[in-house]
Amino acid sequence: MNVLVTGGAGYIGSACVQELIEQNHTVTVFDNLSEGHRAAVHPAANFVEGCLNQAEQSKDVVGRAAPEVVIHFAASALVEESMKVPGKYFGNNVANGLNLLNACVQAQVRKIVFSSTCATYGIPDRIPISEDTPQQPINPYGESKLIFEKMLRWFHEIHGLQYVAFRYFNACGATDRFGEHHRIETHLIPNVLKVALKQQTSCKIFGTDYPTTDGTCVRDYIHIKDLATAHILASQSNLNGCYNLGTGKGYSVREVIAACELLTGAKIAVEEHDRRPGDPPKLVAAPSQAINALNWHPEFIAIERIVDTAWQWHKAHPNGYPH
Ligand SMILES: NC(=O)c1ccc[n+]([C@@H]2O[C@H](COP(=O)([O-])OP(=O)(O)OC[C@H]3O[C@@H](n4cnc5c(N)ncnc54)[C@H](O)[C@@H]3O)[C@@H](O)[C@H]2O)c1
Repeated sequence: MNVLVTGGAGYIGSACVQELIEQNHTVTVFDNLSEGHRAAVHPAANFVEGCLNQAEQSKDVVGRAAPEVVIHFAASALVEESMKVPGKYFGNNVANGLNLLNACVQAQVRKIVFSSTCATYGIPDRIPISEDTPQQPINPYGESKLIFEKMLRWFHEIHGLQYVAFRYFNACGATDRFGEHHRIETHLIPNVLKVALKQQTSCKIFGTDYPTTDGTCVRDYIHIKDLATAHILASQSNLNGCYNLGTGKGYSVREVIAACELLTGAKIAVEEHDRRPGDPPKLVAAPSQAINALNWHPEFIAIERIVDTAWQWHKAHPNGYPH
């Protein structure tokens, strides 16, 4: 396939580009490097530095690349920031995303695969979360992703653009080349590993009185290699629709920290804080629709295996990417 990947210099995008290239697909990465890193772009991919806020440039880039499939990772993705500057989220994730959709229609792209999120569900009324759970986001980030899902449905109905929207749970882990280096790191595993690397003295736990086995929040951790595989299977399929991507297994914050201690041999000091507003006690996917529709089988289920891949990457890149 000939594939254009927006956000291919970012955390999940870089892993997907690696997998595409290893499967001999042709890849163009389109990224403004606002959050991504030049060093995270696979050397075998064509790289175009540019921003989706430029409608004409976006049309030009998609037209020249003439991809069969666009995989759209580019977005603003910090929940807390979205509660302070919602305009940035609706601007980048909706308005700039619309520029991409228009460019796809003009270039007669067959399919778009989109990074949606379990944040579109808000606080779910039941666990595990299946795709028919009501979507009631509780922050502008989740809302912006839900709006884009709805735009996809209409572009499919009216323009025939095929789409798969994947609602990821907590992306995690690393490949042998690419790992997690967000400029503002809000994710648990890299923050715990910073303590193991002695770059931080402790990590924070928000809420120790949740109705879970050890009082801390439970999340579904999905490895970036498993995410990459699902995107490629979806790109090759004729499916349309929205699918959860998770393993179906939940781990508490304390369980993740314990796995990090076991693998790194370091004692991880923790700071216990109050609950953060809007953090549901448990978010675990019912992933059977993606498993059945795509014949997708997540490989990384045990948290120790997941953390091990992240630890190998962080040890090899203690300061993340150079640029
Ligand atoms: N990381 C997670 O746990 C998680 C969970 C659910 C959904 N997602 C979604 O997955 C996608 C990728 O997440 P990530 O963790 O890899 O994020 P990331 O910030 O590492 O990657 C996003 C990339 O998009 C680029 N980008 C942003 N806006 C752009 C624009 N206007 N034009 C061109 N490039 C632009 C950034 O430079 C960056 O390289 C996002 O859409 C995010 O919302 C992530």
